[in-house]
Amino acid sequence: MKFYIDTANVSEIRKANEMGIVAGVTTNPSLIAKEGRDYIQTLKEIASIVDGPISGEVKATATDAATMVAQGKEIYAVDPDHMVVKIPMTEEGLKAIHQLHQLGIPTNCTLIFTANQALLAARAGATYVSPFLGRLDDIDEPGVDLIRTVAAVFHNYPDIDTKIIAASVRSPLHVTDCALAGADIATVPYKVLVQMIHHPLTESGIEKFKEDYQKVFGQ
Ligand code: E4P
Repeated sequence: MKFYIDTANVSEIRKANEMGIVAGVTTNPSLIAKEGRDYIQTLKEIASIVDGPISGEVKATATDAATMVAQGKEIYAVDPDHMVVKIPMTEEGLKAIHQLHQLGIPTNCTLIFTANQALLAARAGATYVSPFLGRLDDIDEPGVDLIRTVAAVFHNYPDIDTKIIAASVRSPLHVTDCALAGADIATVPYKVLVQMIHHPLTESGIEKFKEDYQKVFGQ
């Protein structure tokens, strides 16, 4: 399983990128709005930092396929080597995914909450699907089951090359669950990536090695 970072904060993206752990970035309208900067300019800066797929979502006010396709072309033009157009799972969204696919523009179908939605998006030509596990957990439904089911369904049909991005990841445990469930990618907030690095035995082990070393060798 690969990692993408789920943020529009360029400072977090730079820090994660320097560790060599992120293969791509996902954003959404809420994440970009949180940064309070120009929408397209933010995507442009992100694409200049990470050499991998960068999901930029059509604006939240775009509801019809024609508008989504027009915005999708604009997002793709930011950096055709990296940009992926993120489109919500609706009837119009599927139409937009299909049209963008025919134009050779990669897409990420977002707000996936059932395996049927994932299968429909794959058949429409989505390059990626983003099943959201945290938001299912929030309403007392086991989100990881969705990831496992989508992975099993896609596995049954080798002609599907759509990749599964486990999204709405909220904890290190979610990340392990996604890897076991067969997600191709987990898109993870910076805070969770940092949590994954730490373990109390690692920290105390470093302290002990330092103490023993200094006793004999000094600084
Ligand atoms: C990424 O593709 C999603 O938009 C994001 O992971 C949603 O996360 P949230 O449910 O924590 O807002």
